[in-house]
Amino acid sequence: MRTQVGIVGAGPAGLLLSHLLHLRGIDSVVLEARSRHYCETRIRAGVLEQGTADLLVASGVGGRMTREGLVHRGIVLRFGGRDHRIDLSELTGGRTILVYGQHEVVKDLIAARLDAGGEIFFDVEDVAVGDLDTAAPRIRFRRGGEARELRCDFIAGCDGFHGICRPSIPPGVLTIYEHAHPFAWLGILAQAPPASAELIYASHARGFALLSMRSPEVSRLYLQCEPAEAIGEWPDDRIWQELRRRFETDEGWTLRDGPVLQKGITAMRSFVASPMQHGRLFLLGDAAHIVPPTGAKGLNLAAADVRVFVEALDAFYAAGRTDLLAGYSAACLRRVWKVQRFSWWMTSMLHRSAEGEFFDRLHLAELDYVTSSRAAATALAENYVGLPFAPA
Ligand code: APR
Ligand code: PHB
Repeated sequence: MRTQVGIVGAGPAGLLLSHLLHLRGIDSVVLEARSRHYCETRIRAGVLEQGTADLLVASGVGGRMTREGLVHRGIVLRFGGRDHRIDLSELTGGRTILVYGQHEVVKDLIAARLDAGGEIFFDVEDVAVGDLDTAAPRIRFRRGGEARELRCDFIAGCDGFHGICRPSIPPGVLTIYEHAHPFAWLGILAQAPPASAELIYASHARGFALLSMRSPEVSRLYLQCEPAEAIGEWPDDRIWQELRRRFETDEGWTLRDGPVLQKGITAMRSFVASPMQHGRLFLLGDAAHIVPPTGAKGLNLAAADVRVFVEALDAFYAAGRTDLLAGYSAACLRRVWKVQRFSWWMTSMLHRSAEGEFFDRLHLAELDYVTSSRAAATALAENYVGLPFAPA
């Protein structure tokens, strides 16, 4: 088999890449280890920067998202028993965010690719990439028990943090920068109307909690826990009780509960691999970098890599230019590091750690500053709605 761009992984990065390349007349094949059902139902984050939502609309896959997504103009920071609203739109010249589940984006992209005759092979096994230093790299895999090979011009490693692309780069090429945060998030999806119209980021002496939503009937809630805790230690009653305590206000705010549809614990990590390229293998999304979920940036950062890579491939195929491909990693990493900084800052400001009382006081001062200084609130808002894109 042959294609122009061989894509490993059908997450948001791989699917969006395949879709945008198709619109530029560039062929790709997507190889995915999991089933279509698994990809379409895996619950992840759900906040799209306006730029990400605009990109999906402009490329023709925003129909259902525009109908079902919830446009938000602000977020709430809750601490000291009180709410402090950050008016994202007012601080950023009218920009907004869209609350729409990542797996819904994945469903929309899979449907668009298959409708357009795109090739996505689900349930493939033993994916291995090779000949990365040549102009004809290849991907070997098994499909239905049969050994196959895909020859391509370029390989896009969109296979997430645990994928095989990044580890296929020879030792010594990549520098890894990472930080494991000393806490995790326990997340639930609940059949309960969200108790707030806007997201609430709560900093409490017992730890961080977040109220988000997926629809007017479904809430998505998170609470900070220990990384080593098992989900079995958290029966539903205990989760609701802990959420109620952390969301408590002086005004007697009440959380709405309901049946828990799904729950899980996610570790929090900050990670960057640099450069995001070796030979004809390019890394995109979680394969190259992970941010803690506090800033809701994972999917948005993956989409930003895709934009840069599509422009670079377009310049290559349309005009024989290699300069944008050569500059791919540097262009992506400028944004990646700014988003790492923002995600780390939101995380440390809002969570309680064992660092000690001194740091708890600093984090409270930070929250006080962000909610009382227009300059500080603007800095949060412009990052939250998404930093602008540099011209190609
Ligand atoms: N072969 C083929 N596919 C693989 C392999 C492999 N060896 N290893 C992993 N995959 C697939 C996974 O099953 C998954 O579907 O690659 C895909 C990677 O998708 P994601 O982990 O979603 O990563 P990405 O597309 O970069 O999305 C960015 O945004 O909200 C964040 O972390 C969140 O997923 C998220 C991300
Ligand atoms: C979510 O809705 O899943 C969500 C929202 C905001 C975050 C992280 C996750 O910061």
